[in-house]
Amino acid sequence: MNEIFKRLEALQSEAKGDLREISDQSQLERFRLKYLSRQGAIPQILDQLKTLTPQLRKEVGKQANLLKNFLEQSFREMQERISNQAKTGGGEDSFDYTLPGRRFPVARLHPLTQVTNEIVEIFYRLGFELATGPEIETDYYNFEALNFASWHPARDMQDTFYLDKNYLLRTHTSPVQIRTFESRKPPLKILAPGRVYRHEAVNVRSNSTFYQVEGFYVDRNISMADLKGTLFAFASVFYGEKTRVRFRPSYFPFTEPSAEMDISCILCRGKGCSLCKYSGWLEILGCGMIHPNVFKSVGYDPEVWSGYAFGMGVDRTAAMKLRIPDIRFFYENDLKFLSQF
Ligand code: PHE
Repeated sequence: MNEIFKRLEALQSEAKGDLREISDQSQLERFRLKYLSRQGAIPQILDQLKTLTPQLRKEVGKQANLLKNFLEQSFREMQERISNQAKTGGGEDSFDYTLPGRRFPVARLHPLTQVTNEIVEIFYRLGFELATGPEIETDYYNFEALNFASWHPARDMQDTFYLDKNYLLRTHTSPVQIRTFESRKPPLKILAPGRVYRHEAVNVRSNSTFYQVEGFYVDRNISMADLKGTLFAFASVFYGEKTRVRFRPSYFPFTEPSAEMDISCILCRGKGCSLCKYSGWLEILGCGMIHPNVFKSVGYDPEVWSGYAFGMGVDRTAAMKLRIPDIRFFYENDLKFLSQF
């Protein structure tokens, strides 16, 4: 094989090695002198082509030109890279101050946690302390001690997820009342937020899992007036000063009398709109005076102690406050949704 061919091959690998070493202008200039300048390797080779037969000249000339183009192209690229480095301060770890900053995603609390915290904060200022209870409960705490008769429809399989005969997923946070009464003596002023479960058809307004906040206050001479005053104070802080409240008679086995509290619609302020189904009111919680049978089941004397209790759903409350049309959004963990709060 022709000498010049071999020389071209050797030159090519040598040049590639040299290119890798180049990091500044003077090294690049040395590269140019060695290969591309008038006295450089490439013109020298092109010069020697004259000595070859026309046939060889054609083949070798083609190779030589390819290498020449490659080296010139590499030279230009390197030239550009070096001049860019110079602009940005030079060196491997140069920093371009004109580049836009990189955003780091910031974690935040889930909207349901935010709303729960807001509720807790308000009751904390009214003198409530926090308590929690297990999500897996026994029939006794979830129903029996709360004065649910054995025939009560809420015990039905339709509402409750039973794990076995005795254990179930709590259907409300009221069992925390019993657990607290058992372990402590009155007076007690407690708030118990937590997750609950119901065997229900899932739709925009209800889900098979959701959050509640339970509140209860046991002392001597507690009356319905204390309950109303406390809940009214809560509503005017949480929903706004102009919020009106109303109490409607209701029924819960563990309170007597029982009531449901409505607030004037936060969207239309009572005029009537689609949120309040044109009634002007929104139902937000159940409440009442703790039933004497509940006190008896934990050994409190109902002649001495009285108390109130209330329980509100966090999901619907949060949906109303944050104007979210479907409470299932809270459980989908879609960052596009969550990052708005
Ligand atoms: N536990 C009831 C429910 O889940 C709410 C409630 C709590 C009612 C406390 C009265 C007193 O519907």
